[in-house]
Amino acid sequence: MSSAEKAAAALTKVESYDLRILQAIELGMIRHEVVPFEEVVRYSGLNESEVEYRMKGLDEMELLYRQRDPYLGYIMNYNAYDLLALNALVKAESLEALGPLVGTGKESDVFEAVTPGDVKVAVKFHRLGRTSFRDTRRKREYVADRRHISWLYQSRLAAEAEYSALKSMHEAGVSVPEPIDQNRHVIVMQFIKGTQLSDIISLEEPRLFLDDILEDVRLAYRAGVIHTDLSEYNILVDGEGEVWVIDWPQYTSTDHPNTIELLERDVGNVVYYFQRKYGLEYDPEHVLDRVRG
Ligand SMILES: Nc1ncnc2c1ncn2[C@@H]1O[C@H](COP(=O)(O)OP(=O)(O)OP(=O)(O)O)[C@@H](O)[C@H]1O
Ligand SMILES: [Mg+2]
Repeated sequence: MSSAEKAAAALTKVESYDLRILQAIELGMIRHEVVPFEEVVRYSGLNESEVEYRMKGLDEMELLYRQRDPYLGYIMNYNAYDLLALNALVKAESLEALGPLVGTGKESDVFEAVTPGDVKVAVKFHRLGRTSFRDTRRKREYVADRRHISWLYQSRLAAEAEYSALKSMHEAGVSVPEPIDQNRHVIVMQFIKGTQLSDIISLEEPRLFLDDILEDVRLAYRAGVIHTDLSEYNILVDGEGEVWVIDWPQYTSTDHPNTIELLERDVGNVVYYFQRKYGLEYDPEHVLDRVRG
C-alpha cells in the first residue's frame, strides 16, 4: 500500500486527539529533528498519559517513528503528513475519497479522487527526499543526518509553487488542469482523462498538436512564466485531442537571468520530439521568435 493509501485508511480511524498529537509533532519538527516527548505534550495541550497512550496507536498505524536515545522523541513520516493534508482537504470539502494511483514519479504520487459533489479530481502528493525505513539501522542513520528535516518543508514548497503556477497559468489561458485546492505538500486539481504524449503511438495531424503546445508556451511566456521541464512526459492529450501541460513545480519567472536558454530548451524538447517521432520540420529560431512574439 502506498503512503497516501495508508494515510487515507488511517484517517478513518484517528480521533481528534490523535490529530492534535500529529499536529504537535509537525509543529515541533520546525525546531527539532526528533521532537521530544515533553514538547509533544506541551504543544498538544493533552496530559502525559493521554499522549503516551495515543502514541502507541499512532505507532501501530505506522504514522511515526519513535527514538529512545539520547532522549525519548518522535518523528512523523510521509504517512502522517499525508494524513494531515488529507484531513484538512476533507474538512475544506475539497475532497471526499481517494481513488486509484494514476501516476508516480521520483518526486510525486498522483491519485484519482472524488469531491463531495462527486466530481473526479487529481490529487498530487509532492515527495521530496523520500526515504523508507526497512531496518532500524537505516532509521538511526537517517535521524543522525541533520539534512533530513527539510523533506517536509521542501515538499510543501514544491506544492505551493505548483499550485500558484497552475493558478496563474489557468488565468492566462494556458491549457493546464484547473487548480482546486492545496494543503501542505498536496494539491487538488482538475482530472484530465488523457494519455501522456510520450505514450501516444500515432497522431493524425501532429502539426496541430505541436502548434497547440507552442501556443501554450507563448501564453505562459507572455504571462511571465517558463515551465523549464517541458517534454512529451509532461503533456497529456485527452479524447478530444486537446493538449494539457502538467507538472509545474519547477517553473521560473521570465526575469530569471537564463530566460532565453530555458525557453529554448523547453521549445527544443517538444520540437525535436515531433521531428523524431512524426518527421515534422521546424526551424527552432523561427519557433522561438513566435513563442516570444
Ligand atoms: N491533473 C491530472 N489529471 C490526470 N492525471 C494526471 C494529472 N496530473 C498528473 N497526472 C498523471 O500523473 C503523472 C505524473 O504527474 P506529474 O508529471 O505532474 O508528476 P511527476 O512527473 O511524477 O513529478 P516529478 O517530475 O516530480 O517526478 C502524469 O504523467 C499523469 O499520468
Ligand atoms: Mg512529470
